[in-house]
Amino acid sequence: MKQSNSPFPRSVTFSADTGVIPDATAHYQKRLSDLRGLFLDSEALERRIREENDAVCYENYGVSYSQAEGDLFFGTTIIYPGKVGSEYHITRGHYHRKRNHAETYQALSGQGLVLLEREDGTTRTAELAPGKVTYIAPFWAHRSINTSDVPLVFLWTCSIEAGHDYEGLGSRGMRQVVVERNGVPSVEDRPPRPV
Ligand SMILES: [Fe+2]
Repeated sequence: MKQSNSPFPRSVTFSADTGVIPDATAHYQKRLSDLRGLFLDSEALERRIREENDAVCYENYGVSYSQAEGDLFFGTTIIYPGKVGSEYHITRGHYHRKRNHAETYQALSGQGLVLLEREDGTTRTAELAPGKVTYIAPFWAHRSINTSDVPLVFLWTCSIEAGHDYEGLGSRGMRQVVVERNGVPSVEDRPPRPV
């Protein structure tokens, strides 16, 4: 990209409480029905879809000004509080299409966890909380979870080239799940799917 047609600097307004970015260049919502197959308890999911008019589980505001190498992609994700069975609300989770691209998350309100895993099977978790920057290293798939009872709002920043690869995790989703046990979040290995 030539300097002459590159984007101009600016400040972008967002709400730390709601995560809304009024001037976002992209926005989407994921409802519970969009997340079929990802939660452990599919019966509990279907019940909630019926009883709560297919509530929004999370939404995302993105800002990008060019697709040029070296530019950034940033925005907010808002995960609404709730559980499907004993499992906290999650995002779909992804690898970056360019696996060697990192990302940072910065929680603004609420509290949660990021589940991370590598293609070699290694897993990690990292905390999402105000006052912390969560570093998502290159090569790690990431899924965010709201373990609090208020919306979890976080800012994310990565390179515009990073891209999303939702298929890399396959139909099994991630290797670990976050469930409530005795009132507190517990990170556990995903039980094998019934055959
Ligand atoms: Fe990412």
